[in-house]
Amino acid sequence: MRVAELRLLNFRAYPEAQVLLRPGFNLLIGANGAGKTSLLEALATLALARAPRGGLSTDLVRWGTSEMGVAATTWRGEAEGRLEMRWRAQPPAGRWSRTLRAEGAPVTPAAYLGRLRVVSFWPEDLGLVKAGPEPRRRMMDVVLCQLYSEYALALSLFRRALDQRNAALREVREGRAGPLALEPWLEPLVDSGAKLMSHRERYLEEAGPLARRAATRIGEEAPLQLRYLPGTRGSAGDDWRGRILTALREAAGEEEARGQTVVGPQRDDFEIAYANRPARQYASQGQQRTAVLAIKAAEVSQHLVEGGQSPVVLLDDVLSELDRDHRRGLLEVLGEGLGVEQALVTATEDSGLEEAVSPSQVLLVGGGEVRGEVDR
Ligand SMILES: Nc1ncnc2c1ncn2[C@@H]1O[C@H](COP(=O)(O)OP(=O)(O)O)[C@@H](O)[C@H]1O
Ligand SMILES: [Mg+2]
Repeated sequence: MRVAELRLLNFRAYPEAQVLLRPGFNLLIGANGAGKTSLLEALATLALARAPRGGLSTDLVRWGTSEMGVAATTWRGEAEGRLEMRWRAQPPAGRWSRTLRAEGAPVTPAAYLGRLRVVSFWPEDLGLVKAGPEPRRRMMDVVLCQLYSEYALALSLFRRALDQRNAALREVREGRAGPLALEPWLEPLVDSGAKLMSHRERYLEEAGPLARRAATRIGEEAPLQLRYLPGTRGSAGDDWRGRILTALREAAGEEEARGQTVVGPQRDDFEIAYANRPARQYASQGQQRTAVLAIKAAEVSQHLVEGGQSPVVLLDDVLSELDRDHRRGLLEVLGEGLGVEQALVTATEDSGLEEAVSPSQVLLVGGGEVRGEVDR
């Protein structure tokens, strides 16, 4: 799929902006602070209906304003689509409310998610192998929320149940409530948690071989492996429900002492390894980068396989961070390998990336504007 037009209202530094995009690689060039990343973030926010890199969605609102909007015209094959997301601060308390629209009409998150699909690659992703588990969990959430609306629903139910249960656990610890206060949150927590875990397990099983193939194509000989590390600490059980329940039972004392839910998908992670050796400890920096590129390529493949369409690929300053071989490998995998229909790539003026990328259009970003420059 692809985006033909992107419009912003009070998004980060942009009061208003309109960007016309083309199929192929759109190269966005500008100085540091010019507003390149903001454009990619706007598109990713529109796809996910929330801040794509963690943090609060309302951090994206232009400082001093009370309404933010992102809208796009998309093409999926021959079908045109219109998507719109708005955040407004409601007086008097200034609570933010979100509205999602598709084809001009308000829709629920379940009906909205998946209409625009993006695979984004931010500079911090290059550290995915060595980072703590949080960005790896977020990565799974970003893919799975776009692929399966039931996953997005389970995720929001799980987050609510977890917050409520943790609040109840604190009350119990402080002696202001008895253990019965935990009861109402158990079922919603286990039910939504089991859905998240079974999706994540399956995702990693499928993404593993896809990532391995991509890594080989980028030039890595050792086989790349991905392995789900569930946050239930090896508890046995027939299914995820049973495993979460067992793990909760085993951790009851610790939970009460800490006033926090200590097992479940909020503790999930996955291991990245080459030939059974964890990449975090044993892989060279080049191999770690290859692993990340391959995991991202697998994300694209998964959209092709499961969603039947090529996602829009967002590469924020990533190409200029890579050496020539990795850059060529990534571009080859995305282009010839996976047939990505559209990508947005950011770079500074002096990056010399134009030749490597052969863009379908170069856009100059600066002064709150985006201008088309060289057509090809
Ligand atoms: N919520 C916000 N409101 C207003 N300006 C913001 C907000 N968030 C970030 N900015 C500003 O937006 C500018 C553009 O940032 P960015 O898109 O990251 O530029 P680039 O990727 O081209 O370096 C930065 O100078 C930053 O201070
Ligand atoms: Mg940037």
